[in-house]
Amino acid sequence: MQSIAPTDAQAMIADSARQFAARVLAPRAAELDREGGFPRASLAEAAELGLLGINVPEALGGVEAGAVAYALAVIELARACASTTVAMTVSNMVAEVITKFGTPAQREEHVTKLCAGEYVVGGFALSEAGAGSDPGSMTTRARRTDRGWVLSGQKLWITSGTDAGLFVVWARTGEGKGTRGITAFLVRGDAPGVVRGKPEHKMGQHGSTTTPLDFNEVELDEDALLGDEGHGFKIAMMALDGGRIGIAALALGCGIQATEVARDYALERRQFDAPIASFQAIQWMIADSVTELDAAKLLVLRAAWLKEQGKIFTREASMAKLFASEKAYAACDRAIQVLGGYGYTREFPVERYLRDVRVTRIFEGTSEIQRLVISRDILRRYAAV
Ligand code: CAA
Repeated sequence: MQSIAPTDAQAMIADSARQFAARVLAPRAAELDREGGFPRASLAEAAELGLLGINVPEALGGVEAGAVAYALAVIELARACASTTVAMTVSNMVAEVITKFGTPAQREEHVTKLCAGEYVVGGFALSEAGAGSDPGSMTTRARRTDRGWVLSGQKLWITSGTDAGLFVVWARTGEGKGTRGITAFLVRGDAPGVVRGKPEHKMGQHGSTTTPLDFNEVELDEDALLGDEGHGFKIAMMALDGGRIGIAALALGCGIQATEVARDYALERRQFDAPIASFQAIQWMIADSVTELDAAKLLVLRAAWLKEQGKIFTREASMAKLFASEKAYAACDRAIQVLGGYGYTREFPVERYLRDVRVTRIFEGTSEIQRLVISRDILRRYAAV
């Protein structure tokens, strides 16, 4: 395994993400949280820096920096603004899945546009009202016609649903039930029959729009098919393996930032004639957060490294997402505790970090689904002996 220290190239990508986050994301984050909306301008600047194709080949307009650099960059971005970062991670995941499963023509057509920001961002349309943790029960359908396909159904919880210019959409194409007979399609956001619903009113991540998407008899050409017909479920699962590293890194960014705010506050705030950092109660909270976040970072980097080496990393990605999201949430909660009453107000950003990080325990697979993936992998291996 590579040394724990990032290579020069990885450090350079993380540094460029840190600078972008400080210059563009951080100054806009509080207002974006307050006012909502979609951070189009920030995302356009991210595209210019290559941040929408960090792990995509240079030949397709990406930076080709690898999965470890990607994780390090996402941590830096999320420290500033989790909302804008989630649009970026999902778009990166869409660009990567098309790179992996698309035809040369699809890659040339769509991945280059995703990296350049021409689609604004990409969206990942898997979940439905009755098919969240269990996407194998989806009911969206695509039927074959002489010219291609006709897509109908409704998706829910679609990140960047208001603005994404391209979606990967999963639909049932076979007669079978469950995970068999599901196919992935590339669908432009402006295709006739695609209707973007109203954004959900969420607890956090107010600058990331989450909407339903209706597909009303959407006509698709043959070249909308991504991968093989009937094999879409595995494509979704493989994409989510990588996506989960991104969400784990995003959670970490929120947790690290909250802990640093708490550390600085504890050093300044005085009670009982001393900085509160001199009290063991506060020291232990900081120690627990820093230890857990460091452990989470190691899990994230291990999963990313395995991915980069072309090895199977399903279990490791789930472990990273489970641990990072749970521990980052705990770190944000402790940060509020350290700040006391101030932490509960909008005068300090830690309440935003807590609201923003909460969903990392839910999207791209709940913590319970990560435990299912981890335990199934372990038990299957031992059952096979
Ligand atoms: N890689 C490759 N193949 C995989 C795989 C993986 N990681 N996981 C499963 N598969 C394959 C299996 O081998 C199996 O193949 P066969 O049909 O050949 O046997 C097939 O897929 C079905 O697998 P399972 O029987 O394990 O399927 P399941 O129905 O029991 O579900 C699950 C497994 C892990 C619970 C899965 O349903 C899951 O991950 N659920 C959570 C869904 C999720 O994360 N949704 C997130 C939505 S997207 C989002 O949030 C993005 C956003 O916008 C922020």
